[in-house]
Amino acid sequence: MIPRHAVIRWGDPLLLGVGFVDHDHCEAVEMINRLAAAAPSERLDLARAFARHCAGHFAREEAMMVKTGFFALDPHRDEHRRVIAQLDEVIGALEGGDPCEDYFAVELPQWFLEHRATMDYVTSGFALEHGWAE
Ligand SMILES: [Fe+2]
Ligand SMILES: [Fe+2]
Repeated sequence: MIPRHAVIRWGDPLLLGVGFVDHDHCEAVEMINRLAAAAPSERLDLARAFARHCAGHFAREEAMMVKTGFFALDPHRDEHRRVIAQLDEVIGALEGGDPCEDYFAVELPQWFLEHRATMDYVTSGFALEHGWAE
């Protein structure tokens, strides 16, 4: 039977080569999978924890972009801000009793995979080519 929620399988194909990025993304995948499978009553705490995780991760990526002189800092940072604002809205909806099923089962997993494959991919590659070392 196909599970009703999307599951992201963590593995080498998702690695980008920057240690903290890969570490944070591995944690994000675990949290996203738990959120998708969670009972609605469990989602609020998990979503708050995920929003805190994102705030920390996005700040680390943005600091790397600044340090390496990444050419597309603004659109990447704007996208992070959009997601933080969206998570705030979703947390508000969860507080109001809406389980936000589509967001956690479809939108959020899709967003993660697309963001990793586009903005984070280019940002990490640029950083590694421009002497990024942890
Ligand atoms: Fe990221
Ligand atoms: Fe990012």
